[in-house]
Amino acid sequence: MSERSLAVVVLAAGQGTRMRSATPKVLHRIAGRTLIGHVLTTARELAPAHVAVVVRHERDAVVAAIADAAPGLIVVDQDEIPGTGRAVELAVAALPAAFDGDVVVLSGDVPLLDPATLSVLLDRHRSAGAAATLLTAALADATGYGRILRGADGLVDRIVEHADASEEQRLIGEVNSGTYVFAAAALRAALPRIGAQNAQGEKYLTDAIGILRGDGLSVAATLADDATSLAGVNDRAQLAEAERVLNARIVRAHQLAGVTIRDPHTTWIDVDVTIGRDAEILPGTQLRGATTIGENAIVGPDTTLTDTEVGDLATVSRSDATLAVIGTAATVGPFAYLRPGTVLGAAGKIGTFVETKNTVIGKGSKVPHLSYVGDAEIGEGSNLGASTITANYDGVRKHRTRIGSRVHTGVHNSLVAPVEIGDDATLGAGAVIRKDVPPGALAVSVAPQRNREGWAAEQAAASGLAAPGSEDAAPGGE
Ligand code: UD1
Ligand code: CA
Repeated sequence: MSERSLAVVVLAAGQGTRMRSATPKVLHRIAGRTLIGHVLTTARELAPAHVAVVVRHERDAVVAAIADAAPGLIVVDQDEIPGTGRAVELAVAALPAAFDGDVVVLSGDVPLLDPATLSVLLDRHRSAGAAATLLTAALADATGYGRILRGADGLVDRIVEHADASEEQRLIGEVNSGTYVFAAAALRAALPRIGAQNAQGEKYLTDAIGILRGDGLSVAATLADDATSLAGVNDRAQLAEAERVLNARIVRAHQLAGVTIRDPHTTWIDVDVTIGRDAEILPGTQLRGATTIGENAIVGPDTTLTDTEVGDLATVSRSDATLAVIGTAATVGPFAYLRPGTVLGAAGKIGTFVETKNTVIGKGSKVPHLSYVGDAEIGEGSNLGASTITANYDGVRKHRTRIGSRVHTGVHNSLVAPVEIGDDATLGAGAVIRKDVPPGALAVSVAPQRNREGWAAEQAAASGLAAPGSEDAAPGGE
């Protein structure tokens, strides 16, 4: 059988009223990708000659979002005539006039459809030599879907939409998934004949099926084994359900590739995340965007990483990071907040209640407790005392702090930027560092301590109260 050329039409013009959203339905995201992004990714797997996307509602936003996802696609603007039939009619008109292959129609709101199912549908269509082939599903709850009406011979007669179906027809469990293959010539002939005399006053694409059968052409149907792949997203409940199903697939694929994922139900992984072998992902973890996790790393519990790179053997516990790089065998958390531009070197540490931003921390350097470090660079093997803070913002501009290698800051140091601490320098506890510290120096800025002996007794005598520690003193404070 010679390969017929292929066009894919993706329907994305609808408003998605049931989402009750300012964002067009097909731009809602699951697993880090828009609904239509998932559909276009699947479409690309078929290597079609043409991809046309039909838009109308919020068309500029939709077009902007898909321009990168599918270069070279044909954007088709639907006019004021509503319905999936009209959408396909305009899309087919936008294909080259000489196009005479097969047209796959996909809905922008059916994100879980996989390329394998689509290939089976296409093979079935081509081997049957059908004018149209439908992908159908058996659903326990078919509410909202078009029902497949079959004749006494078992062949598909037509599709009736839920809104137009009788009580009896609504009992039919076989539904239209909204995924079809049509022979271009038959589709071109059927589309102009679709009317809008129905409950919704729309040109239904589904009516093309009855029209083709009326012309005596053959319509094939493939019942999908996995109905969950065909679920449409029309409201937020279905959006969450689709994400749950997709996440389960993604988690399973990582598990089968050698990643330990303790609790698939509370682990959420976006489609583009990569995870190395023998990494371990603990409960309550979300890996988002282009996050990559190295081999043997341990991430979680309760950690959210967005566009973050985690090196081999690193550990990240109960933390949040965005656009950060965590080096090999480095440790983060518990309770750390890594903001964009944080780069932690190999075997380095960002510890408990530490926030970092736009900061490069060298190999083996540690920021273990209660610190804010922003717009800074730290050399290798340095240790920041608990509660070392970079004062990087003077209310107008941000300034940089440079800390050398093998530096020890004290507890409660304020580093008032711009400021530079040389290699091997040490800072005294509580110091406020406003001037550069040369290499190897000790910097102190706190006034020497004075102890005034007998102070408590003096106070008591002056106020006429019993001295603290005497038998008449009241226990405890107030
Ligand atoms: C549609 C099918 C129904 C099927 C279901 C599967 C029709 C008439 N009905 O119903 O048989 O069971 O999908 O999920 O086709 N769209 C346009 N232009 C329009 C209207 C819709 O491009 O004028 C797009 C929407 O953006 C959406 C897709 O077509 O991506 C489906 O439209 P929707 O309104 O969700 O159809 P359903 O009621 O779900
Ligand atoms: Ca739908």
